[in-house]
Amino acid sequence: MYVCLCHSVTDTDIRRLVRTEGVCSMRELSRQLGVATQCGKCGRCAREVLHDAMHETRSEAGCPALVAA
Ligand code: FES
Repeated sequence: MYVCLCHSVTDTDIRRLVRTEGVCSMRELSRQLGVATQCGKCGRCAREVLHDAMHETRSEAGCPALVAA
């Protein structure tokens, strides 16, 4: 599904970035995909997808903070 219409970002894009790049914050997500940098309406949904993706990859080589938690 589309999360950010302004930048054509899907939940799959976010999950892939978390899995392959270890993205673990909205700041990084915004910097890499532009999420929530234009109208901002996607911020809440993007944050939910980000957190879901981080938990899915928690036991893999994701965010060190999450792995340590
Ligand atoms: S929908 Fe993401 S910035 Fe507008």
